[in-house]
Amino acid sequence: IGQKVFYYESVDSTQKIANDLSTENAPEGTLVIADEQTSGRGRMERKWHSPKGEGIWMSLLVRPEIPPQQAPQLTLLTAVAAVRAIEEAAGLTPVIKWPNDIMVNSKKIAGILTEMQAEADRIHSVIIGIGINVNQDRTDFPKELLGTATSLAIETGNGLPRSRIIQEFCAQFEKLYLLYLEKGFYPIKLLWESYARGIGSFMRARTYNGVIEGVALGITEDGVLKIESSDGTIHKIYSADIEFPLS
Ligand code: BTN
Repeated sequence: IGQKVFYYESVDSTQKIANDLSTENAPEGTLVIADEQTSGRGRMERKWHSPKGEGIWMSLLVRPEIPPQQAPQLTLLTAVAAVRAIEEAAGLTPVIKWPNDIMVNSKKIAGILTEMQAEADRIHSVIIGIGINVNQDRTDFPKELLGTATSLAIETGNGLPRSRIIQEFCAQFEKLYLLYLEKGFYPIKLLWESYARGIGSFMRARTYNGVIEGVALGITEDGVLKIESSDGTIHKIYSADIEFPLS
């Protein structure tokens, strides 16, 4: 991981660059890092605020030989790697809010966006985008993010070199990814569950098709969230924003 690194001062989105590199057959483990993104992309077609020098904005290209429906597993694996990197490098204890929000003190410190290039039932590549807020102080966040976002600097009280966290993330990701390729998703699922919050809680999931409420039962073998609503129906949630009491 990170054998080949493309570094940019400013790009529209590292996801877009990694996608283009994937089309040009860049090798597995290629990493694209930028100081600033002018059109950073978040989940569910949102923007991702990526100001210059304030955070880690990067995309990682992998080419696992797995069926496309298992790609969400990689999002969960990445969330575990990000939690561990933040623990090791910053001494914080983040938790995961399904599927991939990394939270400290009930605020979001990092997010993950997984995009896939696949044809029929074969994955060409998976581009994993990771955004970690590092050096922002409270005045750096736009008003609408103030109540919901935080950074490593805010939570630890001091600035941290981004390179240290990138290195730690790559080391953690590589360890987990090799374990995953060798042993499958099960050991990753156990780790993910140990960091995740909200399983067993009542939650509200806002999906593209409407709102589903019920008790979160856990994740499936493919990494998809299962919610049981009050009439006993079990819903599989592939993409949503979820709400539940975090603290
Ligand atoms: C989320 O909505 O939580 C996911 C945010 C993912 C942001 C990262 S920053 C690097 C990469 N490039 C992008 O445009 N987005 C991802």
